Amino acid sequence: MPTVFVLNGPNLNLLGQREPEIYGRHSLEEIAARCREAGRRLGLEIVFRQTNAEGELVNWIQEAGTEAAALVLNAAGYTHTSVAVLDALRTFPGPIVEVHLSNPYRREAFRARSYVSLAADGIICGLGATGYVLALEAVAERLRNRRDETDREA
Ligand code: DQA
Repeated sequence: MPTVFVLNGPNLNLLGQREPEIYGRHSLEEIAARCREAGRRLGLEIVFRQTNAEGELVNWIQEAGTEAAALVLNAAGYTHTSVAVLDALRTFPGPIVEVHLSNPYRREAFRARSYVSLAADGIICGLGATGYVLALEAVAERLRNRRDETDREA
């Protein structure tokens, strides 16, 4: 079963309490539960993590390079600032889907710039926790197609 890392950046540990009118009332633990449920349905092993530290996020993206087939990433505030996260993403060989709970394009101008987008295969934003599930569905399809191609070549 392929492993997918679902990584979350700073302040997402406060989901549910933090600006609920923007980010909704679901806690990060509830989002993790929805991801695990989607993983069971889609045949994916889900590793779900959150950190407030940029370096830790970089370490986990590097770890995904050897441990995961695909990456779903909500880099939160680091989306808009982190060249280090972008550089790490560029070393990851599998599919990358960028997720945001809110729609950054409807918010402050600085949120319209994403370093993560420069390395992402796809972006899902503005759909709340459902965006994570949609990202996992897209990743599952990509990994299935990739497997079919490899089987055909064999
Ligand atoms: C966010 C959007 C970012 O602009 C913000 O800094 C976050 C969360 C989202 O999920 O909507 O912390 O990534």
